[in-house]
Amino acid sequence: MAAIEIKKDIYWVGAVDWNIRDFHGYSTEKGTSYNAYLIKDEKIALFDTVKKEVKGDLIHHLHQVLGDPSKIDYIIVNHVEMDHSGSLPELIDLIKPEKIFCSPMGKKALIEHFHREDWPFEVVATGDSISLGKKTVQFLETKMLHWPDSMFSYIPEDKLLISSDAFGHHWATSERFDDEVDPHDLMVHAAKYYANILMIFSPIVQKLLAQVKEMGLEIEMIAPDHGVIWRTSPQAIIEAYDRWSRGETKNKAVIIYDTMWHSTEKMAKSVMNSLLQAGITNVKMLHVRKNHRSDIITEVLDARAIFLGSPTLNNNIMPAMADIITYMKGLRPKDKIGAAFGSFGWSGEAVKHLTGHMTDMGFEIVGEGVKIKNVPSHDTLKACSELGSAVAAAMKK
Ligand code: FEO
Repeated sequence: MAAIEIKKDIYWVGAVDWNIRDFHGYSTEKGTSYNAYLIKDEKIALFDTVKKEVKGDLIHHLHQVLGDPSKIDYIIVNHVEMDHSGSLPELIDLIKPEKIFCSPMGKKALIEHFHREDWPFEVVATGDSISLGKKTVQFLETKMLHWPDSMFSYIPEDKLLISSDAFGHHWATSERFDDEVDPHDLMVHAAKYYANILMIFSPIVQKLLAQVKEMGLEIEMIAPDHGVIWRTSPQAIIEAYDRWSRGETKNKAVIIYDTMWHSTEKMAKSVMNSLLQAGITNVKMLHVRKNHRSDIITEVLDARAIFLGSPTLNNNIMPAMADIITYMKGLRPKDKIGAAFGSFGWSGEAVKHLTGHMTDMGFEIVGEGVKIKNVPSHDTLKACSELGSAVAAAMKK
């Protein structure tokens, strides 16, 4: 990779991480990138750094653009998480910046991470701006997108929003712009990122979108800290964030299940068939031990109905079901219809537990849940068909 000029005198200088497959539990089957940006003006500013392990790529790119990285005057820390600040100590040693701009929470977090109160911090808040010469940097705090310290940097002369984690996606590519990659794949990666990282913060995303509108920021390009830069379709990702953060759903059902000896799986298939017969054609059958939790939650993002199925194990649900339910509860999906089913050998508590978890998440529960002892028969499977039909009817309301 090489540094790329994304606007006049503004460069992508980040690093592409082709081989990462597990980003603290998020499955990054296509890798990711850590984007850092450089503005060359009377003052030279670096926006964020990269993960410690790939700092050599960033330094190489700075050499390409500047010859000597120590020409940099300012480092702007939009986000403290280690994928963006992991190489900050080495970069500060190399650059010896005049100032390090960050939010109030950013300064606190940087000191808590690196224990260097002597760094030349310059705290900025929403509404503050600095001049680099011809270009201006306006700051907008975006607390909890993705950490309390997060902020956007907006360059009005270029209508460029450097958006930190927001509008990003984990996808390692040689291309740097949205119009150079497959648009469908791009939105799939962006949806996965939103579902796994930002869904919990949807109310904050709604407020932020309203604030950006109110401030009248003209946005021609969005440069996030992960993935490709939105130069052709920034509006497409803003509109997607609006839909996802409002909890807008499709006429889609997701059946999440585990099974021991295929009895609960037969129940899942019966539920699916009844949904199809009722005209719900977008149905995903997701065995929890065959699908990564990151991919399951991505399907949950825009689904209207969620079915949870588990056999009873030790008077409870299967451990892998507990895993996805714990994850889902934390991410707080909105406006879902829920229904439960499961087979059992003697005690049969799983359906009660599954229903309880969905009630806790605020799902609209349909039916009482279906329990079938041992192996389902054609007759006993009718209860699953009825459950699927009842949920299909609720989805059409
Ligand atoms: Fe890409 Fe919250 O760090």
